Amino acid sequence: MNKTHLFLAASLFCAGSISADVPVYLDDSQPLEKRVEDALARMTLKEKIDIIHAQSKFSAPGVPRLGISELWCTDGPMGVRPEVLWDEWEQASWTNDSCTAFPSLTCLAATWDPELSRLYGKSIGEEARFRNKAVILGPGINIYRTPLNGRNFEYMGEDPYLAGRMAVDYVKGVQDNGVAVCVKHFALNNNEINRHTSNPIVDDRTLYEIYLPAFKAAAIDGGAWSFMGGYNLFRGEHASYNPILMNDILKGEWNWDGAVISDWGAVHDTETAVTGGLDMEFGSWTNGLTNGVSNAYDNYWLANPYLEGIKSGKYSEKELNDKVRRVLRLTFRTAMNRNRPWGSMGSDEHKAACRQIGGEGIVLLQNKGGLLPIDPAKVKKIAVVGENAIKMMTVGGGSSSLKAAYEITPLQGLRNRFGKDFDITYSRGYVGDTLGDYNGVKTNQDLRDFRTPEELRAEAVDAASKADIVLFFGGLNKANHNDAEDSDRLSMELPYGQDELIEALVKANPNLVVVNISGTGVAMPWASKVPAILQAWYLGNETGNALADVISGDVNPSGKLPYTYYADLMQCGAHKLGEYPGTPAKDKFGNDIFDIPYNEGIYVGYRFIDKNKLKPTFPFGHGLSYTTFKYGKATVDKTTGSAADTFTVTVPVTNTGSRKGSEIVELYISDPKASVDRPVKELKGFRKVALMPGETKTVSFEIGKDDLSFFDAKKHEWVCEPGDFEALIGASSADIRSKVKFAVK
Ligand code: BGC
Repeated sequence: MNKTHLFLAASLFCAGSISADVPVYLDDSQPLEKRVEDALARMTLKEKIDIIHAQSKFSAPGVPRLGISELWCTDGPMGVRPEVLWDEWEQASWTNDSCTAFPSLTCLAATWDPELSRLYGKSIGEEARFRNKAVILGPGINIYRTPLNGRNFEYMGEDPYLAGRMAVDYVKGVQDNGVAVCVKHFALNNNEINRHTSNPIVDDRTLYEIYLPAFKAAAIDGGAWSFMGGYNLFRGEHASYNPILMNDILKGEWNWDGAVISDWGAVHDTETAVTGGLDMEFGSWTNGLTNGVSNAYDNYWLANPYLEGIKSGKYSEKELNDKVRRVLRLTFRTAMNRNRPWGSMGSDEHKAACRQIGGEGIVLLQNKGGLLPIDPAKVKKIAVVGENAIKMMTVGGGSSSLKAAYEITPLQGLRNRFGKDFDITYSRGYVGDTLGDYNGVKTNQDLRDFRTPEELRAEAVDAASKADIVLFFGGLNKANHNDAEDSDRLSMELPYGQDELIEALVKANPNLVVVNISGTGVAMPWASKVPAILQAWYLGNETGNALADVISGDVNPSGKLPYTYYADLMQCGAHKLGEYPGTPAKDKFGNDIFDIPYNEGIYVGYRFIDKNKLKPTFPFGHGLSYTTFKYGKATVDKTTGSAADTFTVTVPVTNTGSRKGSEIVELYISDPKASVDRPVKELKGFRKVALMPGETKTVSFEIGKDDLSFFDAKKHEWVCEPGDFEALIGASSADIRSKVKFAVK
């Protein structure tokens, strides 16, 4: 044996792949289930109990005696959260935990591009891996039921198909790093107001057709290794250990082998947590030591009370073993996966990904007279107005708040791009939120301004009247009630007098572009007066650069709305028919809860708009480009087939303008005659196609049984009824360009 052989033998021994002395659970050449059973058989009862609950704010202890590692989690979902103290939410004050803040998930959804979702997942997964985290708490994929939900910006819009397709690639991208996603918040977590006590009342069909499919896609097609249970209840039981959601559906019908992690502080009872399908408890008494004598974590619902319950015979070890198996699987797949790459943080690739996703997610909602992109032949003087042009927004919003390595504000981005040849002025226009601090992470911006609203407005109007173009940056800002966890918005209206300011600006200068920064729809009573409107989300580190890319035309916008932009709340089924935020009721312990009947049923978003023939400010799937696209006639490969067949629908799309650009082509299915009431149409496919000027490409979609079925609640199964169907090809849900019929015999 030469030196190389000795080294190889030693490392293989360490890797546990050849020596008979290496226990099976440490030998990663062995099948996963064999390793899990071997480890389980070696664990004491106490070790089993220890592994299923937290030992600190974000970690669980593993089994030190057996060399089974700790499991470290982190938020999620838009960047890796800075390190906090062991028991506190406060900062650990590390100097090496500044991350890449990626665009909000609504922005990602607005790209309608699974490849970008993969890139997003890969990049954020690399950052999590570099920080040695096993689990990243995201993606968030709750359905956008109301524009008021404070966390819409963390989610992927109103449509289950879109959210599901985008989630699958996010999941795969993250998990290729040996880092688990924790898909949240399963399920029906659709508002922040009363978030611990909301009890949605939802029928099975609505549950299966609207609120579950994205989660199912993440679990089955994405192969997500962990899920987070929500704070809310469902049918009177908390979601994190809801037997219907966790046992019957997730682990039963979907046969999923991952681990269910509670939301932080979502557990309130040992007995149901034991039997209701929860695997790991985190964040109970989230100030750490309140209930602790020497270690609060021993007092968790799934700690000593569970241990005592087993010892006294109240609980068997059956459920415990299932939980432990799931935690072991999660650990072997992540923290003890020796084949995982090393990860990286703040790399140039991550910056580029951030900028690309931001640029491709920005939605050009309106562009009358071709005001955008800025035409250097006509524009020399740019008046930038609005607090959101200068406010850093990677800090704030709740648990997704980040300590970003840097953040380019919109104003900086514009100065970077236009500074040399253009005269750029800035005026504040209004004062909104000046806090810039979340759990001790500070933006270090002093945004205080003590001028009166009238003075601020007068200055902005004056600047606007002297400019060739006015760029107003407003919207929301992740402050309480303005896109933030734990609080819903109070109305759809823009805060801080922005509507009046916009009216005054457009009067002073008709060349006004409104750049709305938010993660949810806002009322735009001035939409018909303002020529150009951009929906810009929260874009992370590269905010200003991504915006300047689109405003300058360096990037031709291609994003489309992942939700309906309602004109007012009454266009939203949840507000028109459903109850929000619910009526007072009691849970099984007599605690106060809020029942929220989802009376709108499956008619969420454009499904409600279509049914009631409403005209929203901007429809689901809408987004413009600086070029134009012409759709040809859609054709189908066969007009009749059986339910087992695949129908292929094709449509030619041509770039009829003079710039290269990408178009998202949307496929909706309509089932005009069915034994149940069905939506006018439902999204069942989308493709993004890049086209040079004059170029034509043919886009094709495969339609199968799943795309034609509805959930029959009585039979408790998906049913594809024979009959006529129609494939609708659209540029948005309200702009159908071609239709083709086919029949299932
Ligand atoms: C949020 C979760 C988050 C967790 C940990 C909770 O308050 O609802 O989304 O992952 O805190 O920070």
